Amino acid sequence: MLTNARWIQAQSDCAGAVSFETSFVAKKAVRKATLQATAMGLYEPYINGQRVTMNRFMPGWTSYRHRVQVQTMDVTACIKQENRICLLCGNGWALGRIGWKGDDKHYASNKAVIACLTVEYEDGDREEIITDHRWSVFTSQIVASDLYDGETVDHCAEPEGLGAAVEVEMSTLLIPQEGEDIREQERIAPVRRFVTPAGETVLDFGQNLAGYVEIRVSGKRGERVVMRHAEILDKNGNFYTENMRSALTTNTYILSGDGVECFKPTFTWQGFRYIALDEFPEGALESAEFTAIVVHSEMKRTGRFVCGDEKINQLYHNLVWGQKGNFIDVPTDCPQRDERLGWTGDAQVFCQTAALNFDVRKFFKKWLKDLAIDQKEENGAVRGIAPVVMDRSITRISAAWGDAAVICPWVIYLTYGDKQVLVDQFDSMRGWIEYIRRIADGGEFLWLNGDHYGDWLAMDNGEGVYEGATDKDFIATAFYAYSTGLFVKAGKVIGRDMSEYEELYQSIVKAFAERFTSDGLPVCHTQTACAMMLYMELCEDRQKVADELAELVRENGCRLNTGFVGTPYLLYALSENGHTDLAYDLLFQEKFPSWLYSVNQGATTIWEHWDGVNDKGEMWSKAMNSFNHYAYGAVGEWLYRTAAGIRAVEDAPGFKRFELCPVPDKRLGFVDASIKTVNGEIRSAWFAQEGMVRYEFTVPENTEAIIKLPGGVENTVGGGRYVMIMK
Ligand code: BGC
Repeated sequence: MLTNARWIQAQSDCAGAVSFETSFVAKKAVRKATLQATAMGLYEPYINGQRVTMNRFMPGWTSYRHRVQVQTMDVTACIKQENRICLLCGNGWALGRIGWKGDDKHYASNKAVIACLTVEYEDGDREEIITDHRWSVFTSQIVASDLYDGETVDHCAEPEGLGAAVEVEMSTLLIPQEGEDIREQERIAPVRRFVTPAGETVLDFGQNLAGYVEIRVSGKRGERVVMRHAEILDKNGNFYTENMRSALTTNTYILSGDGVECFKPTFTWQGFRYIALDEFPEGALESAEFTAIVVHSEMKRTGRFVCGDEKINQLYHNLVWGQKGNFIDVPTDCPQRDERLGWTGDAQVFCQTAALNFDVRKFFKKWLKDLAIDQKEENGAVRGIAPVVMDRSITRISAAWGDAAVICPWVIYLTYGDKQVLVDQFDSMRGWIEYIRRIADGGEFLWLNGDHYGDWLAMDNGEGVYEGATDKDFIATAFYAYSTGLFVKAGKVIGRDMSEYEELYQSIVKAFAERFTSDGLPVCHTQTACAMMLYMELCEDRQKVADELAELVRENGCRLNTGFVGTPYLLYALSENGHTDLAYDLLFQEKFPSWLYSVNQGATTIWEHWDGVNDKGEMWSKAMNSFNHYAYGAVGEWLYRTAAGIRAVEDAPGFKRFELCPVPDKRLGFVDASIKTVNGEIRSAWFAQEGMVRYEFTVPENTEAIIKLPGGVENTVGGGRYVMIMK
């Protein structure tokens, strides 16, 4: 792509955004004009002062050393006879700070762009305006910009010439855009303005979100708006930013004094619910307008879930917002502090819920390719984050994190019936399995002594310990088996001979049982261990393990104590094995640790920690306390797949055939859920009333549903609407 154009940079880098510019004259009547462009940094193209696209944060985040996405834009409507093209370029992922170590410039030392404007004239002639040394570079009004620290926009700043652009060589591959466009999605007005006990002027938008605040304000030349962001107030009602760690998340705007001025950042976003106005033009507050703009990748909404319990509805709302806040081109752990990284474990845990809430097929396919590309440099190992940034050794090669390489493609295949993702990711899946096979202890089919994250943030290993009590070797070997099993299924779907891996799978399962179980129960006696064995089908006697799990939950006061690894499996492990009531008890539990604990604390997104704020109103810690971390939102899939009972089946993926197997509980009152699948919209609803349950199902044309209701009722039906009333 862009074969004739050259990468260009300014002669030296500067903190703010720079504008690469050139002029051209359209010689004749223009039929069509197309701009292709990309950047090392983030860019926005303008023609004749007009922004040519609504898309934000281009070119998106890929493994930049290997590939950068090129955007193609129809700009015909922008072209006049005399034209000025500007490519405004900021730091973004390529040059700004990334990672908690504080360093920047991970991919390049100077911002760069490459572009070609192709003009097709009415008479058939074509002309190409390409980036090269004839372009000029200017400073801009964005005088500082960083993803973590925020942006400074100075409306008084006059553009300064930085001289001619310099042509540079870059070895990265230019590819057409694979991911979804990133766009402004929703606008939210503040619900409240108040002054905190500490004297800060604060606006509350009522929803924790990712994006930025647009402000319309008038004032005198040189007056400033300084705005900080926070997710939460502390127990005294003061603005709380310690959990942002080193990220300053501060936007500063300097007014020109020229009437009503509009400000919002261009090359950064924040994760926030509140803003504090540290500085504001005198007397301007009453007339100023503030709007929070939600930004995320385009994803068509597919799933809906509503039930008769307002707290569960709020939990569902929170997990959907967890997805909105963390699906900005790559699936991130959190949108606010000095991370916002593509943590593989978090994505693996949440992938199924995400894929039911929204159509994330394109989103995941792009990210998985970057994961696979970085994996090559690791000889098959998958690091804790993708794309890999920072010193490679900083993120671990961990079970449950690296397994994203296998689990995510499988989920995408199952949910959307897309075989291509298995074809594309086959080598990556195999690479991960082979990596484990190489290091697995002495050919004994066990993954021992790895440097894992374990059952991250579980509550069963004492105060303040990040890694839960479940034996890491147990977790690693169980995932080794689970991923190998999925890999076998995936290979068979695309017609590969998987006999070698079938054998490997059997050997791991056997070795796992010998090493980690005694009398059919996990040696390491935790909720997570039992839940994993049940979900991953590693039990000889399922009932025994399920009963053990039920006992562990009861002993803990009907409360969970699982972390990132065990939590997604916990409710299934109970509800699939005769302990449905207990699964619902956990869902409805309000005492901490539980899903509804944070709901009762007023959460509008999913918290990273079960005890982000403890019952005394104190913060768990400053170091690791995000209030928008989707991992525990993985309970969403259980709501769709068990409470509503809409389940894909492996031999007819994409819901060509599926199960409708709702498991009612009168505490929910009713459930009404739907999923827009690639084969049509499925609805499953039930209403519990006077000892009866009324079920309503919609099965799309040309699909088949196996209706399975409590009490052993089973029926296979084709497209249509069905109502059933049962005792
Ligand atoms: C992230 C997590 C991630 C973890 C690795 C944290 O800093 O925020 O969500 O998975 O590190 O254990």
